[in-house]
Amino acid sequence: MAEAAAQGRPVAALTGAGISAESGIPTFRGPSGLWKGFRPEELATPQAFQRDPEGVWEWYHWRRGLVTAAEPNPGHYALAALEHHFRQEHQEDHLVTVITQNVDGLHRRAGSENLIEIHGTLLDSRCTRCSHGETIPPEASGLVYCSACGALARPAVVWFGESLPPDAWRAAYRRSAEAAVMLVVGTSAVVHPAAGLIELAAQAGAVIIEVNPEPSGMAGWARYALRAKAGEALPQLLAQAGVPIP
Ligand code: OAD
Repeated sequence: MAEAAAQGRPVAALTGAGISAESGIPTFRGPSGLWKGFRPEELATPQAFQRDPEGVWEWYHWRRGLVTAAEPNPGHYALAALEHHFRQEHQEDHLVTVITQNVDGLHRRAGSENLIEIHGTLLDSRCTRCSHGETIPPEASGLVYCSACGALARPAVVWFGESLPPDAWRAAYRRSAEAAVMLVVGTSAVVHPAAGLIELAAQAGAVIIEVNPEPSGMAGWARYALRAKAGEALPQLLAQAGVPIP
């Protein structure tokens, strides 16, 4: 990491729900991931939305409430600081990329700009008829309708069984293949194709550093494993690599 920071080599960070756990947002897997007895895999599908759009919207309104009330934590801020440090030191905007599976918007609020949200964002809706995308009004509840054509809208996120937005996926693929270092932070790395980016980066020569109290499904690719919380381990790692953390 220190070498990449000194020489301005590209760094990609692949993040998952664990980086937002210290902001009070429940992860998906494990007992705290349940909502009214449902597993996320049962709600985050096109079939669930077809069967029960009110129920699915209720879950997303609840999650949107949680994330808007939450604040980014030192893990999010450390990744934003890394990007800004590289930009300043090496005069290049795209050396540090955060590729997140999270839909909570906390990386952006922490200041990450070169950010790829491969699973979309729960702050926006997308029309089921005309695909118009817009920010969901903070006070919205119940079903959400498109302001352009009036049809039913859905959360602007990727559900199980759907493909990732092609532009976001292409960018994530390229940044992973180019990375000299990939930080894998707070993800169980069992959901594909996102988890496949770790193998891609490793096979293209990246040093994989996993930051997670538990080994992920891709831990075998990691050269280093920091078995600690992201909000503690990331600021320490970056400080050791000479990156100032404000
Ligand atoms: P998971 O809930 O599967 O995994 C969270 C990971 O974070 C686990 O490996 C935990 O050990 C780890 N963790 C918990 N607290 C942590 C902390 N403070 N610091 C670091 N790590 C911590 O979440 P994801 O891997 O993000 O997809 O799940 C991937 C995808 O599955 C999500 O994007 C979502 C979900 O269904 C879609 O909605 C399409």
